[in-house]
This record gives sequence, C-alpha cells and structure tokens, in this order.
Amino acid sequence: MKNSFVHAVGRSYRALTPVIFLADSEPAHDFVLDLSEVLGKVPGVPSLMRACMRVSHPSLNTTVAGIEFENPIGLAAGFDHEAQMPRIVDGLGFGFQSVGTVTNGAYEGNPYPRIKRLVKSRTMLVYKGFKSTGMSAVLKRLKGQQWRVPVGISIGRTNPLGEYTYPAAIGDIVEAFRKACNSGVPFAYFELNISCPNMLREVSFYEPERLAELLTAVCALNLPKPLFIKMPIGLQDDGVRALLDVVMCFPVAAVIFGNLQINRTDPAFDPQELATLAQYPGNWSGMPCQKRSDHLVTLAYNHVKGRLAIIGCGGIFSAADAYRKIRNGASLVQLVTATVWEGPQVPAEICADLPALLARDGFKNISEAVGVDAGKS
Ligand SMILES: Cc1cc2nc3c(=O)[nH]c(=O)nc-3n(C[C@H](O)[C@H](O)[C@H](O)COP(=O)(O)O)c2cc1C
Repeated sequence: MKNSFVHAVGRSYRALTPVIFLADSEPAHDFVLDLSEVLGKVPGVPSLMRACMRVSHPSLNTTVAGIEFENPIGLAAGFDHEAQMPRIVDGLGFGFQSVGTVTNGAYEGNPYPRIKRLVKSRTMLVYKGFKSTGMSAVLKRLKGQQWRVPVGISIGRTNPLGEYTYPAAIGDIVEAFRKACNSGVPFAYFELNISCPNMLREVSFYEPERLAELLTAVCALNLPKPLFIKMPIGLQDDGVRALLDVVMCFPVAAVIFGNLQINRTDPAFDPQELATLAQYPGNWSGMPCQKRSDHLVTLAYNHVKGRLAIIGCGGIFSAADAYRKIRNGASLVQLVTATVWEGPQVPAEICADLPALLARDGFKNISEAVGVDAGKS
C-alpha cells in the first residue's frame, strides 16, 4: 500500500519535471531547503511525512561503523549545506544524512552560475565551492535538535583561506572539527571532505604524505564518533590505492566513493548538451559519476579487505543502481542528484524496491549482498 503510494508520488513528480526544470537550479534548491526547515518546525508535519512516505523493511536494517541504520540510503553532502533538513529527512525515507560541507570560516560561494542542469545527461554542473555560513552558525542552528536517523557532518577547509599553506589548511580543518566535537550536537559521524574539486586555490591532500599529515592532526582530537572520508573519483587507480593505504593507518571507519566527476569526456554526457555549458567552470554530479564510482567501490572493497567500510555515491537513481553498488562492495550508499530527477520521495522508492532484489538473489539482509560481485571484475 505504502509502496504503491510512494511510486505514485514518484510518477507524478517525474511527469512534472518538464515544468520543474523551467526553474533556475540554485533558487529552486534554496526554496526547497527553506521550505524543509519550515516544515520541520511545524508540529505534526514530520510525523505525517514519516507515516505517508517512510518505507521500512527488516532486510534493509544494517549496522556500519557501530551505527544502526534502518536503511542504507543516505542524503549525500552538498544538498543540505546549511543543515536545514535533519528534522524531516527521515520523513522522506532516508536512512541517514550528511549535512554540509561546513567550513570553519564563512564563504558566500564561488561566482554565479553555480548549479546548472543538463537534463538529458542527468547531471548538474556544480561550482558552489563550499558556500557556507561557517561552522559556528551551523552548529547554532542545530543546537538542541534530536533526529530519528543518524546525521553526520561533512567538514572541509574554508574557501577562500587567508594563507594557502598546508599548516593553515590543516589548522582550519582541525578547528572546524574541534567546534563540531565540542558543540554537544548529536552527530552520529564525521565526514572529512578532501575531494571538493571547486576550490579557488587547491591545497591538495591527494599526496599520501599530505593526507597522513591531515589525518594525524584530525585524529589527535580523539573524535567521539566514527570518521568517514569523502574521496575523489578523478585520481588514477594507483593514486586511490595509495590514499587508501594511508587511510588504513588511522582510526577511520569508512571511505565514500565519491565526489563530483571532473572528466568532461565521460560517455554519460550527451555531447551536444555538454557543449552548451562548455564555457562554465565546475564539476559534475549524477550519471557521469556512476561508472567511475561503481568501479572505485569495487577497487576499494578489494583493496581494504574489510578494514574500512565502503560507502557508494555517484549516479544512484534507482534501487537497481543502489543494489549494484552494494554488490560491488558498498555497505551504505548516498545520493543527491536523484532527488532532482526522480523526486524527493526517491529514497522511499528505493527502499520499496530493494527488498525484492535482495529476495530474488536469496539474501535476507543487505549486509549479505555487500561485495558479492567485487571479485568478478
Ligand atoms: C549542488 C551540489 C553540491 C554539492 N556539494 C557538496 C559538498 O559540499 N560536499 C561534498 O562532499 N559533496 C558535494 N556534492 C557532491 C555530492 O555529495 C555527490 O558526491 C555527487 O553529487 C555524486 O552523487 P549524485 O550523483 O547522487 O549527485 C555536491 C553535489 C551537488 C549536486
């Protein structure tokens, strides 16, 4: 009954996308965030949404990094960069959420345009570059809140930074972690974002020694909750393995593969459509991330041999996409772009459809499916 309802909502949303896509991306996004914040504060609305939209099934319950998840579908960092949605995110059907990326200092964001859709290619050009009111303001908003699903905070370096040196960048990131740790806000995990491709000037942590310096400083804080790392998908496989070797030397619980696609030659682009945005800077979400993140989930699963959990992110639009990443090695998955193309009910639709895929293959729980295809490539 509920499954039919969420699919009906999905069909209605998809029928309306030609109209929805007439709106400019960034104002539409801001409107949704402001509306979510208001709805989350109206008594009864979050529980009504939960009653109508949330799809639960025992085969989707899982525990990763000591955290219990009712389902493995998370809202990835970037959608709710100012943490306006945690009160209602479970009402949309999500199993968890990463707020942010939040930075220590405030930044109004890179020059416009910062989000542009390519409808056929199912992707957005993203050039926000860590727009953030800053850690203190975000923590103030979240103070006193309690949530029904695990909520983590994604943390990155302030953009722009006064001084572009490694000590300055590490100090800035550590300060943001310190504030989040001391805030009393009940984050379930911390997500260190080392992979934003839209920084004004790069202070890169893709060199293994540099990543080790950063992790030494962050882990010296003795974080009270598990640490996840949001990884890039633009490095060569060997470069990714080298970073994973570093990560495994630290008390890190999970790696997320991954962030935006920088490669404009990915076959998922419709070339003519891509040409219309050729003059704009930025990097890509959605379908152009899919193949590369699928591959890196498998690579990471095979490389870390159970030492880290893998979280799949990039081009998940359906239960089949989520299930493929799980079979490749992901214990959890995250998405953003599908909420725009498929609708805000997409996590509920995925949760409605996943149990049948698991049952078809003889799995009683998603944890049994994690990595079953990882040895095949
Ligand atoms: C508008 C937008 C803003 C984003 N901002 C962030 C961010 O602040 N931090 C981050 O780690 N990832 C950010 N991302 C990347 C997403 O978290 C995700 O890694 C990427 O979009 C691939 O997932 P998807 O195909 O489901 O969108 C952003 C993505 C979009 C579309």
